[in-house]
Amino acid sequence: MRTGEAVHGWASRPVVSLGEVGSTQTEARRLAEAGAPEGTAVVAEHQTQGRGRLGRRWIDEPGAALLVSIVLRPTLDAPRLPQLSLVAGVAVAEALAEASGLRVTLSWPNDLLLRGRKVAGILAESFAGRDAGASVILGIGINVNQERFPEDLAARATSLAFEARHPFDREQLLRTVLNRLEAWYRRWVGEGFEPAREAWRRGSATLGQRVTIGEGVNGTALDLAEDGALLVRTDAGALVRRIAALGP
Ligand code: BTN
Repeated sequence: MRTGEAVHGWASRPVVSLGEVGSTQTEARRLAEAGAPEGTAVVAEHQTQGRGRLGRRWIDEPGAALLVSIVLRPTLDAPRLPQLSLVAGVAVAEALAEASGLRVTLSWPNDLLLRGRKVAGILAESFAGRDAGASVILGIGINVNQERFPEDLAARATSLAFEARHPFDREQLLRTVLNRLEAWYRRWVGEGFEPAREAWRRGSATLGQRVTIGEGVNGTALDLAEDGALLVRTDAGALVRRIAALGP
């Protein structure tokens, strides 16, 4: 991917394409605070401080991943915001399936899996904008052309190229991801969460499975509620709701 120039856009916005950065989340937030329009996207070749959900690190192989952060300003009530990462999960799953022809599944809240292994993750971080309402930086990391994984990750991680047995054009994949994301985002804002909820349930690798929800609490994932909460029947028989809150 070429660096330092605009290559594509969400709703005809330019993409900021960078080489090595700490985290595209930080770069996108800087741009958002400086007034960058909704849909501004920042991509990088490599991150030295890539972050994942729940304070985890996101490690990439330089030049082999798609690392993108998108500035969003959803004009919705705060309780609806956690739905955004589920909506994004549906969009990225569709984009990966379109690009590869492979079956992509969703692990709650928004990990994307190929053959049960993680191929992509999503991190939504919100902060108070200059005007009323929150801004959200939506970060997406996709293992695209990586062939090998560190030993401790090999059983849980995979890449598009590893599964499809051929390399992928990351710029084209970026375009597909942004198109699907924009379509699903607009649908969510315009029509509500139900269409994404239905798509998430259809593609879910979590529903009906055993899950751990916090310290020593195990159970079975029953459903995705209308508001985006995961409904879990614990082994002790309680019905528990889990919302995937936005970071940080
Ligand atoms: C997760 O699975 O925990 C979420 C991973 C999100 C990683 C992406 S890569 C682009 C953006 N920049 C970051 O530092 N994180 C997100």
